Amino acid sequence: MDFKALMEEARTCRRFVEEKPLSMADLEWLVECARLAPSARNAQSLRFALVGHGPACQKLFALTRWAAALKDWGGPHEGERPTGFIVILAPADAGQLVFYDVGIAAQSMQLAAASRGWGCCMIYSFDHKAVPELLRVPADMKAALVLGLGLAREKRVVAPLPADGSVQYWRDAQGVHHVPKRPLEDLIAGRY
Ligand SMILES: Cc1cc2nc3c(=O)[nH]c(=O)nc-3n(C[C@H](O)[C@H](O)[C@H](O)COP(=O)(O)O)c2cc1C
Repeated sequence: MDFKALMEEARTCRRFVEEKPLSMADLEWLVECARLAPSARNAQSLRFALVGHGPACQKLFALTRWAAALKDWGGPHEGERPTGFIVILAPADAGQLVFYDVGIAAQSMQLAAASRGWGCCMIYSFDHKAVPELLRVPADMKAALVLGLGLAREKRVVAPLPADGSVQYWRDAQGVHHVPKRPLEDLIAGRY
């Protein structure tokens, strides 16, 4: 697939095929992709907690918050919940540069997931106290970002920015998730 087509496909996914769970090997493959990503000073100080389908996955799900902009939807229902999580861990005393690594690792895994038809939702709205407790994260590390994963169930599309300029994503009557993206010209700050 053309890389731009993959970028278009790799929309955040929040509904999954729960009856076809990802395996631990699938999660490991995603981390294998992140392993090859750039890292500031090549320090590679991130670690990845893998949560496969099962009781820990359910407990972690309960500590995450989904799609704040969809006011009448409280997150994925039973049967459409993520079937695995990857929690990106960063050193507790990490400086700013490490969080660039977190973003790069997360996007690498999101693209890798999309390349296999899996969906991914990066989640910062999680219980930052309870998640490290659940996963017994060592005291010198912190949970920086959670990735909810599974076989994608929902259709997501890029939408043009509406006339009022709102960047809020929305869902149509058919359940298709629309994500407004600014046009290229609005993003280019200058040509020199
Ligand atoms: C750093 C970061 C944190 C995010 N946290 C959440 C979250 O807590 N819950 C959620 O449902 N989506 C979360 N998202 C997903 C964004 O809402 C999503 O990227 C945005 O709506 C644009 O959609 P797109 O990813 O399809 O382009 C997060 C995304 C990023 C990059």
